[in-house]
Amino acid sequence: MTELLFTPCRLGPLTLKNRSIRSAAFEGMCPGHMVSDDLLNYHKAVALGGIGMTTVAYAAVSQSGLSFEHQLWLRREAVPGLRSLTDAVHKAGAAAAIQIGHCGQMAKTSVSIKCLSPSGKFNLYGPTWPRAIKKSEIHSVVDDFGQAVKLARESGFDAVEVHAGHGYLISQFLSSYTNKRKDEYGGSFQNRSRFMKEVISAVMEAAGTDMAVLVKMNLRDGFKGGMELDESAEVARILENMGVHALVLSGGFVSRAPMYVMRGRMPVKIMAHYMHEKWMKPFVSRFGNLLIKPEPYTEAYFLKDALQIRKAVKLPLVYVGGLVSKTGIEKVLGEGFEFVQIARALIHDPAFINKIKTGEISLSGCNHANYCIAVMYSGKMACYQNEKDRSAPWLKYLEGK
Ligand SMILES: Cc1cc2nc3c(=O)[nH]c(=O)nc-3n(C[C@H](O)[C@H](O)[C@H](O)COP(=O)(O)O)c2cc1C
Repeated sequence: MTELLFTPCRLGPLTLKNRSIRSAAFEGMCPGHMVSDDLLNYHKAVALGGIGMTTVAYAAVSQSGLSFEHQLWLRREAVPGLRSLTDAVHKAGAAAAIQIGHCGQMAKTSVSIKCLSPSGKFNLYGPTWPRAIKKSEIHSVVDDFGQAVKLARESGFDAVEVHAGHGYLISQFLSSYTNKRKDEYGGSFQNRSRFMKEVISAVMEAAGTDMAVLVKMNLRDGFKGGMELDESAEVARILENMGVHALVLSGGFVSRAPMYVMRGRMPVKIMAHYMHEKWMKPFVSRFGNLLIKPEPYTEAYFLKDALQIRKAVKLPLVYVGGLVSKTGIEKVLGEGFEFVQIARALIHDPAFINKIKTGEISLSGCNHANYCIAVMYSGKMACYQNEKDRSAPWLKYLEGK
């Protein structure tokens, strides 16, 4: 079988040495919202592990876009640390991307100065009660995206990935579930997509001719009343016409259908154990499964929907979601996707790609038990399979998985 994975491929102005990209997956390694040695070393390990491009996870374009402690905030002070990270990644033979975004209603009020959303609807999953963003603030968030791209360039990144999915601010504007505005940013699809278009214009201008621009977008929001495939195909066409270099096709809405993104079950007792907010722990432990409903997992779970977008546009597409085997990766690439993104298999083992290349493995040890998602709330990135001490009582929950 021809190995598509290990063939080079163009991504806008870049050529990646192979078709694998480390998907943006929050590392929790940015105390004070700055780069740490742990963050640098993790991405260096992924680069040494054979990836074509590694993506530093969600970096907020402004303080109000922060949704976690230990989350990167792309501001001038962060540039030297990021420059060391991109130097290390380049030296290890991979390209470097950074995901930029604004979380809107998911802002963590302890670290963010304000919590904004298109129309100020209560968000049970924060819980937060955001206020509706004013037009002047919309313009300034658009500028922040442009500024973030300039800082990414100064930091040596080859690419930026704009987060327009998962119920983050751009996705909150696109979805009629969160966007109830009555002005030119709400109502019709054309109006709901206006904010995204303004952001992408600013991003494309700042990216110039030498940086690649990817957009991570939703195929479906994952619940009744959210965005569906007909509108996401329109989003894809708009982005293609605006000159974006590739689309990353994902789905889900953190404040409504969080497990739609990653599938499987959230280990809520572990999540509760690691939460900082003491008052929320008993609530999450007891009722977490009702709020964070499990979603069935199958390998390459977004493939059927992603193929619909493949038919709608010609630009390079990045498949993400449930890739853990060489066969799965080759199948997806064989269906006409230019790249694959992988998150959990690379949290389990940064050398996943090289191990596939050498034939050491053909299947990741990641079993999507989603421990990595539960511990993310503590500012730690870890795989249950790799934890040496599994005797702690809150870990018993995952025994046998
Ligand atoms: C621990 C963890 C953190 C994540 N953080 C982000 C994030 O910051 N931004 C994002 O777009 N997706 C995030 N994701 C979703 C992944 O990028 C990816 O879309 C999803 O995990 C499916 O890919 P996989 O099956 O290869 O893990 C995260 C996933 C995990 C497991």
